[in-house]
Amino acid sequence: MTREDLIQSLIPERVRQSGAYQVPDATGMIKLDAMENPYQWPESLRVELADRLAHSALNRYPDPQANGVRGPLRAWMNIPDELEMLFGNGSDEIIALLIANLIGSGRSVCAPDPSFVMFQVLANQYSVPFRALPLDASLDIDLAGWMDGLVEADPALIFIPQPNNPTGNLFSKDRLTEIVESTQALVVIDEAYTAFTDADYLDWAVTYPNVVVMRTLSKVGLAGSRFGMLIGHPDWISQFEKTRLPYNINVLSQTAVQYALEHASILNEQSQRIRQERARLTLGLSERGFEVWPSEANFVVMSCSENQARPLFDALKTHRILVKCLDGSHPRLKDTLRVTVGAPEETDALFAALDHLAAEFGR
Ligand SMILES: Cc1ncc(COP(=O)(O)O)c(C=O)c1O
Repeated sequence: MTREDLIQSLIPERVRQSGAYQVPDATGMIKLDAMENPYQWPESLRVELADRLAHSALNRYPDPQANGVRGPLRAWMNIPDELEMLFGNGSDEIIALLIANLIGSGRSVCAPDPSFVMFQVLANQYSVPFRALPLDASLDIDLAGWMDGLVEADPALIFIPQPNNPTGNLFSKDRLTEIVESTQALVVIDEAYTAFTDADYLDWAVTYPNVVVMRTLSKVGLAGSRFGMLIGHPDWISQFEKTRLPYNINVLSQTAVQYALEHASILNEQSQRIRQERARLTLGLSERGFEVWPSEANFVVMSCSENQARPLFDALKTHRILVKCLDGSHPRLKDTLRVTVGAPEETDALFAALDHLAAEFGR
């Protein structure tokens, strides 16, 4: 048999037909595409961290429970004593773990439409049925549509990012309450952008038997450490612990996260700066004639003239600015770009590029 024949017979059709997750090359670019925190740490702290990393026991497997970060995380995030934590290699891994538990059960997964793509991508990868639930004209939960969808799909899991990605808005508390109180599914409130909003649903994981909360350190300056968390009642967490890979948080990540949390004031201060810069970015884009969607996250969606989003995206790249083109990914996102909030000088570079391109793309 040739290798081609073997691949044909051994790799399922579903996998052969799919593509790998694409990340654009950002070498030399001002990177405003991936909701990262733009700030590096002060040099003195980086030197101290390097020393810690140099002394970490790379010859040993990591602590499977990552105990060194549990206490500091609980304190920093004000996690109630009633709740327990499970850690993932980014929250992507937690999403994968939660969905993988449903393989073969016939149960489905639901998420808002549009929302973070990995919910659907991972459900497809694991052949777990996925159902997208509609948003209304203001991008809030379309209650009637959700109720119908939930009856039909009868999901075991509902992912609800709060605020939502890529739309940036918070869903209304009343509608979330209705969904949580009427469903038999486990609702995962995904607070990836918690640092940039005052909304906080941790207490729902205490109050409601069917709610857990997911968070990540990716948006507060530690994207490279790949560290996500599921926070919930110990009864839920102990079930999911059974399918977590034993050493999923490596020694270097544990050391770096622990060190970062010893300096948590820096994380807080940088997030605060990002919130302020979000206001300046929103204002500057509006002043240049773009409609900017209200955002509680570290990115904004800007609406361009008809069929101008892709050409503007390409033109910005020639100015070494990389944003995310949402046009073409979903009907609701037609003519839109998503811009991550960067450092002030990055915002200035974006404004300068837009001014330069105003004759072509101005509104
Ligand atoms: C809503 C939402 N959830 C989860 C994630 C994944 O985060 P992580 O970097 O922890 O895998 C993202 C990343 O953009 C996101 O937008």
